Amino acid sequence: MKKLWGGRFKKKIDAGFERFSASFALDRRLLAYDLEIDAAHVKALQKCGVLSAAETSKLLGAIKELADKHQKGRLILNAGAEDVHSAIQEALKAKVGDLADKLHTARSRNDLVSQSARLYCRAEGLKIIEAVRKLQLEIIRQAESSQDVLLPGMTHLQNAQVVSQAHIFLAYAEMLERAQLNLRTAQTLFDVCVLGCGALAGVAYDLDQKMIARDLGLSRITDNSYDVSGDRDFVLSLLSAITLLGLELSRIAEDLLIGQTRGGAVVELDEAFCTGSSMMPQKKNADFLELARGMAGVFAANLNGLLMVLKGLASSYNRDLQWDKKFLFDSVERSQALLDIFTRAFRTLRVNRDRAKALLKDESVYATDLADYLTKKGVSFHEAHRQVGEIVSFGEANAVALSKIGLDILKRFAPKAEGDVYDLFDALHSVQMKKTQGSTNPNEVKKQIKKWKERLEV
Ligand code: ARG
Repeated sequence: MKKLWGGRFKKKIDAGFERFSASFALDRRLLAYDLEIDAAHVKALQKCGVLSAAETSKLLGAIKELADKHQKGRLILNAGAEDVHSAIQEALKAKVGDLADKLHTARSRNDLVSQSARLYCRAEGLKIIEAVRKLQLEIIRQAESSQDVLLPGMTHLQNAQVVSQAHIFLAYAEMLERAQLNLRTAQTLFDVCVLGCGALAGVAYDLDQKMIARDLGLSRITDNSYDVSGDRDFVLSLLSAITLLGLELSRIAEDLLIGQTRGGAVVELDEAFCTGSSMMPQKKNADFLELARGMAGVFAANLNGLLMVLKGLASSYNRDLQWDKKFLFDSVERSQALLDIFTRAFRTLRVNRDRAKALLKDESVYATDLADYLTKKGVSFHEAHRQVGEIVSFGEANAVALSKIGLDILKRFAPKAEGDVYDLFDALHSVQMKKTQGSTNPNEVKKQIKKWKERLEV
């Protein structure tokens, strides 16, 4: 195919270099957006007198034909094209002849690719936001049905205090909400019309940028064409939002994985998301969770890859920028797939109540409650902490649970302890004692679930 830039060249491009520089295999994902831009651009070219009404309708018709065919998955473009823009140009030429050559008036591939990638980021970013909402909804559904499941919450991977499983699920919803917020923030950088920037200096035509922006549903027009030419911060912002999302998902995956270690899990992953071992017949490995956990590394690598490409790059366009697609498409497609599977995995999670009960045999989780009890009887918290520490140590040394230590011995360490102290060694009592907003108190958890359902179901 003839290049969009061939005029001044006497030699044919080196075949190896031609393959090396081609981006069509990747950037064909921009096809629908490029066609949308082409249609808006054609209308603007008519308005500024470059195209006649007849030419305009002929070109618009051809663009629509391509778009329709593409939507039906039936558009086949020249796989050997340099990039998606050249491939479209070639396809249009086959339909309308030399008229297609007028399309590239008043624009460059620099502003074109920047606009196209922004539209892609906008559409795919919104899909990711919606996918996060769907996952949050599944998480909240699980929270709703596990409000009465109490278990030891952990810090430092060790049993710490009693919480409800619902409270932990609610934490996941909060984590994802922050990731979602970042995804929304990124949207502002996509919402800019950059057509009319040309290669770097703007174009010498009365291109109605307001009209183009309106056609493309963009609310702002850029104030600097030189900046646009080399700006990929909008891609960075999406990649960084996806990285945070991946990080949150990896932490949730790790929580579930820890559960699967020896002795069985409170939150059980459905078998459909596990695989076996080729050697050990007994194995059922929670591979999905490990792949999900590892994927945070892939997202971070893509973000880092683009950071490396952009670092120290002179302002305005440099061909290095073409590598942005590799990172962008990879993170977008993988994050969408990941969210999709995560949502189904959450829908099919099973909460094992017996396992939760068994974990509560560790009564060390009531130590803080005991210290609070003594404090309410007038002991300073510092002193109560010390007294309970001694009781815990006594229990450990004698292999006896806190609730099985007699009152006489308890009183030796904590003189203010009375008969009612034994009420403390009860998981429900423990969570009910919590009073603060966002705590694991069942009423608070219920309130939070209601909040989330209202927020997510609209
Ligand atoms: N494929 C290129 C990219 O993604 C399009 C812009 C080409 N511009 C140029 N001056 N060679 O950046």
